[in-house]
Amino acid sequence: MFKELKICTKTIALFVVLLLIISFLPSVLKAASDVNKVNYARDTIYQIVTDRFHDGDTSNNPEGELYSQTDLHKYMGGDWKGISEKIIDGYFNDLGITALWISQPVENVYGIHPEGYTSYHGYWARDYKKTNPFYGDFEDFDELVNVAHSNGIKIIMDFTPNHSSPALETDESYVENGTIYDNGSLIGNYSNDTLGLFHHNGGTDFSSYEDGIYRNLYDLADYDLQNEVIDQYLKESIELWLDKGIDGIRVDAVKHMSQGWQETLMNHIYSYQPVFTFGEWFLGQGEVDPKNHYFANESGMSLLDFQYGQQIRSVLMSEEDNWQDYHSMIEETSNSYEQVNDQVTFIDNHDMSRFQKENAAQVNTEMALAVLLTSRGVPTIYYGTEHYLTGNSDPENRKPMPSFDKTTNAYQIISKLAHLRQNNIALGYGDTTERWINQDVYIYERKFGNNVVVTAVNSGDTNYSITNMNTSLPEGTYNDVLGGLLNGGSINVDGNGLVTSFDLQPNEVAVWQITENNNQPKIGHVGPMVGQPGNEVTINGEGFGNTQGDVFFGNNSATITSWSDSEIVVTTPDITAGLYDIKVMTNSNVESNVYENFEVITNHLISVRFAVEQASTDYGSNVYIVGSTQELGNWDPDKAIGPFFNQVIYSYPKWYYDIAVPVNEQLEYKFIKKDASGNVIWESGSNHTYTVPNQGTDTVTTTWQE
Ligand code: NOJ
Ligand code: NOJ
Ligand code: CA
Repeated sequence: MFKELKICTKTIALFVVLLLIISFLPSVLKAASDVNKVNYARDTIYQIVTDRFHDGDTSNNPEGELYSQTDLHKYMGGDWKGISEKIIDGYFNDLGITALWISQPVENVYGIHPEGYTSYHGYWARDYKKTNPFYGDFEDFDELVNVAHSNGIKIIMDFTPNHSSPALETDESYVENGTIYDNGSLIGNYSNDTLGLFHHNGGTDFSSYEDGIYRNLYDLADYDLQNEVIDQYLKESIELWLDKGIDGIRVDAVKHMSQGWQETLMNHIYSYQPVFTFGEWFLGQGEVDPKNHYFANESGMSLLDFQYGQQIRSVLMSEEDNWQDYHSMIEETSNSYEQVNDQVTFIDNHDMSRFQKENAAQVNTEMALAVLLTSRGVPTIYYGTEHYLTGNSDPENRKPMPSFDKTTNAYQIISKLAHLRQNNIALGYGDTTERWINQDVYIYERKFGNNVVVTAVNSGDTNYSITNMNTSLPEGTYNDVLGGLLNGGSINVDGNGLVTSFDLQPNEVAVWQITENNNQPKIGHVGPMVGQPGNEVTINGEGFGNTQGDVFFGNNSATITSWSDSEIVVTTPDITAGLYDIKVMTNSNVESNVYENFEVITNHLISVRFAVEQASTDYGSNVYIVGSTQELGNWDPDKAIGPFFNQVIYSYPKWYYDIAVPVNEQLEYKFIKKDASGNVIWESGSNHTYTVPNQGTDTVTTTWQE
């Protein structure tokens, strides 16, 4: 009896504790699952140079030569605790920010470059399985991720799989000789590279795509990504950070690595824990590069949209171009990028001069922010822009965060529009229609279903009277979402969407909007857009209904993991590799729009170097490969992979290319020669055959069949 009572009290106590835990749990779980890791279309990213943001823990600052409070080449103390602190303070929630892109978190070299630089920026990795101790330890990182998630904020890490750190072939004492470690155990170094971890082809002169891939970027020890130790090490490392809960990856220097290997990286990530991934492919002012578009469309990752960034700078910063040029870029990129809403837009970053110039009017920065945040693409705000931070080249563009004041005009503008991005899906998913344009004025509409956002900007110095402007807005009076922060006023729209007349003053920006779900199924986003059978895919939009219906890849229905009115999660069906249109059918059999060209791949991908000897070509012709699977273009010469390279690893007439191919697959293929106008010469003889190994990397060499 007594004993029973005792058990009973114990049980009750246990029960209470359990209850407490359970009542805690849902909020924790919910916070974690609220974060959509594969769709950033409605997010606003904030780019942080971790070392320069906020020093939340002075005890982890480096000592001696590595640290300075004034020298921008040294570590200055910023860390993860500092970022967590500012999240808790509400600095980002109030700003409308939903994702933070932080410096590469891994341990970097402690050595100092002969020119006095340190690794404060995080791009000089030493051990990808350890933290950079000056940013914090794993506990601090966990805290950052948890604090971020419980505030609805995602964490994007920078990642540098192209290189380790500065090294010289002939001097092993140069910085740290490119040395890398696997959680503390030595893997190898640059000048005595017995395992062949690195390329030893000198530095690139940037003369060709191939040259940039297979030679060193500046003095950085360039990985041979076909080396199995490196391939495995980098993939294991990214798994570690995915396990740590990161929600996105920014990949450094993607133009300087083979697309084939990067496709295997993306396949690895999407099979492990899919997260939105975007690469850095730098483009200069006015530069348009079809290879950049091809990469964004075929690699499985998005890109930082330098075409967008350079163009808006030309209009509002250097003022060399006008809105007609800007609009041409919007039109051109909507064709050349298959997923234009997934490209990551910005007005400046740590590799270019800050948008705000010393002694220049702040209003140009403010107009640029307003346009950035209402345009297609995922907008990124570089830290300090909300405080009009200035600085030209590196490291002047990486000065410490000057203030956390929330009252600047720029802060208010970002806040209003970043919140609008969360609420009105026209900004994330919509297309763009020009409604009025001249050299000074640009008025554009974003629309998705019945959700509409109209933005008007006048960056000239005269007043414009706009008459008879068409919109998709329903009849009514619309107030400026910015509340007059950039002098915007209201408009009256009649029953035909027409605005009879209104004025736009110099330097005025106005934003008008309506948010309305019309309960028609409409897909606005699918992520990722490539997968092997079994990989998870998330479909977002509106009007899917709250009762489960069907999702089709072509005519094949997919297994559904979860379903709500705005989000469906499915698994990639086990169907023949190829391109498929995705479609949602509601429970009451209403069909959505089709979301085009999801790529089903054959199987897990590994990187194989295909080489062909004695392939002599006429001037202007190139060698490509085409073969029996989706990954080799299904025998369609228009989808052949190439042009092959013939300068660095092997020399003409021997050609090579690193390609992502499905494991264990028995491939049949041929090489072809294509001239500049697309005329094709096929190899004669029978097809080459090759069985892809089940893991690692490989090289397969054949001779051109004349
Ligand atoms: C591009 C980065 O953004 C830049 O800051 C860095 O120095 C190089 N890649 C090398 O990692
Ligand atoms: C080109 C093809 O279109 C695509 O299907 C394939 O996955 C890669 N790009 C090949 O590496
Ligand atoms: Ca610190």
